[in-house]
Amino acid sequence: MRILKVIILFLVFQVSAQQGGMWIPSLLEGMNESEMQSLGSKLTAKDIYDVNNSSLKDAIGHFNGGCTSEVISPKGLLLTNHHCGFSQIQSHSSLENDYLKDGFWAMNFEEEIPNEGLFVEFIVRIEDVTDAMLKNVSDAMSPREKQSQIDKNRNAVEKNIVKEEWQDFKIRPFYKGNQYYLFITERFEDVRLVGAPPSSIGKFGSDTDNWVWPRHTGDFSLFRIYADKNNRPAKYSKDNVPYTPKHFLPVSLDGVEEGDFTMVFGFPGRTNEYLPAVAVEQITQKLNPSNIAIREAALKVIDASMKADDQIRIQYASKQARIANAWKKWIGENQGIEKSGAVEIKRQFEKEFVKALTDQGKEAAYGNILPEFEKLYKEFETVNVKRNNFVEVFLRSNELMQMMFRLVQMENTANRGEEAFEKARMSMVNQLKGIHKNYNSAVDKGVFEAVMPLYSSNFDASIYDNTAFVNLESALKLLEGDSKTVLQKLNDDAAYQYAKPLVLEFYTNLEPEFQRINTQINALQTKYMKALMEVLPEERYFPDANSTLRVTYGKVNGYAPRDAVYYNPVTYLDGVMEKYVPGDYEFDVPQKLRDLYEDKDYGPYADKNGKLPICFLGTNHTTGGNSGSPAIDAEGNLVGLNFDRVWEGTMSDIYYDPEICRNIMVDLRYVLFIIDKYAGAKHLIEEMKLVHPKK
Ligand code: ARG
Ligand code: ASP
Repeated sequence: MRILKVIILFLVFQVSAQQGGMWIPSLLEGMNESEMQSLGSKLTAKDIYDVNNSSLKDAIGHFNGGCTSEVISPKGLLLTNHHCGFSQIQSHSSLENDYLKDGFWAMNFEEEIPNEGLFVEFIVRIEDVTDAMLKNVSDAMSPREKQSQIDKNRNAVEKNIVKEEWQDFKIRPFYKGNQYYLFITERFEDVRLVGAPPSSIGKFGSDTDNWVWPRHTGDFSLFRIYADKNNRPAKYSKDNVPYTPKHFLPVSLDGVEEGDFTMVFGFPGRTNEYLPAVAVEQITQKLNPSNIAIREAALKVIDASMKADDQIRIQYASKQARIANAWKKWIGENQGIEKSGAVEIKRQFEKEFVKALTDQGKEAAYGNILPEFEKLYKEFETVNVKRNNFVEVFLRSNELMQMMFRLVQMENTANRGEEAFEKARMSMVNQLKGIHKNYNSAVDKGVFEAVMPLYSSNFDASIYDNTAFVNLESALKLLEGDSKTVLQKLNDDAAYQYAKPLVLEFYTNLEPEFQRINTQINALQTKYMKALMEVLPEERYFPDANSTLRVTYGKVNGYAPRDAVYYNPVTYLDGVMEKYVPGDYEFDVPQKLRDLYEDKDYGPYADKNGKLPICFLGTNHTTGGNSGSPAIDAEGNLVGLNFDRVWEGTMSDIYYDPEICRNIMVDLRYVLFIIDKYAGAKHLIEEMKLVHPKK
């Protein structure tokens, strides 16, 4: 009997363990801890998160608010992705010192390069403040009343926070506002660049391989955190010293194999796992297709121009990567939703929900939720699509329209007086300088001609011949003078005359209407989440990602994307050589790496079969923001560096399907190999703690 129970428990864990989830690190005791252990983990909840002793969480830093990073030495050495450190690497690059192209390696502390504005934030402590935040809040309140009560409560909570003076805090809603957590944080602002491989390693495969498996990218870069003499956060100073962390991750030389436990610890940005079916339909049938079409039109022009002209290729590299990244993700997302039957599965689930409401006599409280969703999303569709398309055209793809959007904002400050206007004018001058650093008006005009017809039937590309803003000099000249002078000139500009009504339409109609319905949808989503957890308490509920620290775990595992096709979960250096195209901008391989491959000079970094692993797959549930997150083995050692997901599984932000959702990690042995054998930066290896857990 006892054995049977254990077996059943084991089976339940086996099945549910495949279902993903991003969990709050302070709440792992119980279900998560046993589930992780059933997957092979030797870690306790306290090894991962502990307030009184150092724990894994002390090694995990939020990198510049967007990515994740981890401390891997007692001297504050920090590991993240190449694409996360990309703009820092780019900002120190020039034609003479092209760190993007050739890589960069500081051979001692003095050579490490400071980065203005870059910060890394650690979590000191997490506290549940739900009761205090939701005090006197009731379901009977309107969204606005609710918000004002919550704001009041927030003030009260903030007054009672216990923290050191160098620490910060933030309060974030979870489960759609049904729970609140307080985070005490420490933010380090002296973070220096230590090392980066050349793009031909760090961005190997570029856009063709982005979101794709099999993958062979060494997507990593190294930084170092500096602190003041008391080891506390401090602004950059040459007197600062390398930070001594509360914990750093030992690095395993043994790696992981298919079936092994892995855990990914990081700061996932945003997911939407509890949407009703009608919302998923709207995203996949209306929103994504129109946004994909706009980006595709823009990319066609940009790609062709980049191929034709080297100068444009360099200027548009990072813009192109940004536009292509989401474009490709949405295509994968739509296919994945379709293939997994996510909408139908959600509809079935909603039937269960309705049945449970009836069984439990809760129709009066929650019976209106689903019909209300249907009604609201129908009402939402036109404005939701239109607003999204506006953002795509005016803020993501066409740069002249982006300038016009900002200029309308500038004009709007004029009624707040000359001082406000002058501030806005100065900021506009800086923005224009930024945009024009990498601007080509012929490319932008091509983009305009391609994307504008997808937004408005009123389009006229001749504005490009009659505007001051396609050229920095004339743009800055137009912005000279007091508000009256500038605005007069501005309103005579052809591009401004064209764009202003469209931008005003956005501000006076589109945005308010969008917000009006969106507020109602959000309030309903809060109620739906609460109802789900109350009515179907056996389901697996994890809070949607919200850029806070989370743990996700699973196993190293391949997958079958199509009939008769199975992908192995590990790639090797041999695969890099298979993809090698001499001179190609995506698939070139540096001579040095080819030599190391020829000589099989892998040092201690080869696996037990003598092959050098590059990337591997896991069933960890990740999203944007998890880039740079450590993949940790059963004993708490670093084995991988998360950087992407497989294309067939990018719908995991909306619906996690354990069959095909996989995260992609760089094998740490490849990272070590590049640092040691390729770059000759052995001193960095020496400050790490290398371990052999499998021996
Ligand atoms: N797809 C990954 C993510 O969403 C990697 C993006 C960087 N790589 C690229 N080729 N753009 O961030
Ligand atoms: N590449 C993403 C990032 O930069 C990770 C993902 O979306 O899987 O965070």
